[in-house]
Amino acid sequence: MLAKVLTCALIGLEGAIVEVEVDVARGLPSLTIVGLPNATVKESSERVRSAITNSGLRYPLARLTVNLAPADLRKEGSAYDLPIAVGILAASEQLFPPDERALIIGELSLDGSVRHVNGVLPMASLARSEGITALYVSSQDAPEAALVEGLTVYPVDSLRSLVSHLQGLEVIPPCDLRPGLDADAEPSYEIDLQDIKGQEHAKRALEVAAAGGHHTLMVGPPGAGKTLLARAMPGILPHLTVEEALDVTRVYSVADMLPSDTPLIRHRPFRAPHHTISHAGLVGGGRWPRPGEISLAHRGVLFLDELPEFDSRSLETLRQPLEGQRQVTISRALGALTFPANFMLIAAMNPCPCGYYGDPVRECTCSTSVVSRYQRRISGPLLDRFDIHVEVPRVDYDKLTDERLGEPSAAVRERVEAAREGQRQRFAGTSLTSNADMGPAEVRQFCAVDEGGKSLLRAAMQQLQMSARAYHRILKMARTIADLASSECIETPHLAEAIQYRPRRQM
Ligand SMILES: Nc1ncnc2c1ncn2[C@@H]1O[C@H](COP(=O)(O)OP(=O)(O)O)[C@@H](O)[C@H]1O
Ligand SMILES: [Mg+2]
Repeated sequence: MLAKVLTCALIGLEGAIVEVEVDVARGLPSLTIVGLPNATVKESSERVRSAITNSGLRYPLARLTVNLAPADLRKEGSAYDLPIAVGILAASEQLFPPDERALIIGELSLDGSVRHVNGVLPMASLARSEGITALYVSSQDAPEAALVEGLTVYPVDSLRSLVSHLQGLEVIPPCDLRPGLDADAEPSYEIDLQDIKGQEHAKRALEVAAAGGHHTLMVGPPGAGKTLLARAMPGILPHLTVEEALDVTRVYSVADMLPSDTPLIRHRPFRAPHHTISHAGLVGGGRWPRPGEISLAHRGVLFLDELPEFDSRSLETLRQPLEGQRQVTISRALGALTFPANFMLIAAMNPCPCGYYGDPVRECTCSTSVVSRYQRRISGPLLDRFDIHVEVPRVDYDKLTDERLGEPSAAVRERVEAAREGQRQRFAGTSLTSNADMGPAEVRQFCAVDEGGKSLLRAAMQQLQMSARAYHRILKMARTIADLASSECIETPHLAEAIQYRPRRQM
């Protein structure tokens, strides 16, 4: 007898429906799995047999063939255990399989309990778009799957309980719809701008960066507060919308990094990998490709502290997602995979190896050649991708011991949100999300400047020896500064502030 059950495969962040066909035929007892299974899927046969017998069910003593279709799609992981087990029980006439509008996903342990698998959210999204109406997943994964609207999600504890459900003996109550989505608790962030003393210039630069999504490089001596400033960044960015939160959660689901207490990630990601991180760890990859830090920072902040210490090859591969594409493509033997990587880059560095080059108080002990070699570790094209270059000088004693608090992050965030709202309207119907994403055509359309502004730009172009790219960057940044001031037109002061954020020294 032949039985069919549907389940789901995962390719990068995308799901794909897989049909599990089980045939029970007379012959020597055996189980063969065909359809490009990898080693973990092949091992499924052992887990399935034990799980079936240990659940008090009958494992057919017959020649079993399991076909995973489509046959040309590589099958990885352990999520096929549960559908294979249900297929075997159906083919041996112990139950009726669920109808063709249901997906079954789950790993089995030997005692028949159902375990967590990665990537349930993208699988559930796919199921919804393919017209599937019911989903059977482990109880642990059920809240995550239930984030997708319009699906009935059944939390399954064990093979035994699923069998009782399908036999109509004991029905599993479906999971509540869309848990956590309406929880309007404000996310809290560890560092508030009001606790950072002085550094008004750097704080303003971060506000502009947050308002327009501009990549930012901070340069300054050790202990000036660069790391502290970067950590305050998520707190001044707008809260994630539900769609953005689902986007972020998809990535974390595939990376198996969802926190156990909540199905939905509501905090803007802040990723701060150490400079010893591997290439694959930063951009993604590995034998079973996992999203790298740049994808884990999707819709949030990637903070690269001590930028020159990072492997230069890895830094150069950041250039593609930093501009235009906003995603990363990982090629491997079986075709390319794409992960989203729309992040804001914040980087920090000392001006030289000892850290005090240009410091008014402490003398720098590095020779000129050492300083320039250090600064040359960041290539020109990469440096050029930072819209904002900001110097973070040491804070003097009086400022540091000042008891008065600065402006809280929440107040800054309000201005940022207003500026972002304007951009949302400006870019409605396009794929652009912020001013930093504008290409030359949009710059022409939205960044007109008056005569006074033009002459200021002409002078700056000559004095700072700016490239065409730098010229566009200034216009985009001036647009953001004008947005923060709720100004329809870009005025000369907006341009003047934008020009300030170009690197002063030729690095
Ligand atoms: N502007 C500041 N306001 C308050 N504390 C500061 C400030 N700058 C530095 N600090 C203190 O010094 C520590 C080191 O700062 P950090 O941000 O790590 O400096 P950097 O990254 O520039 O080397 C912080 O943890 C904080 O205690
Ligand atoms: Mg630091």
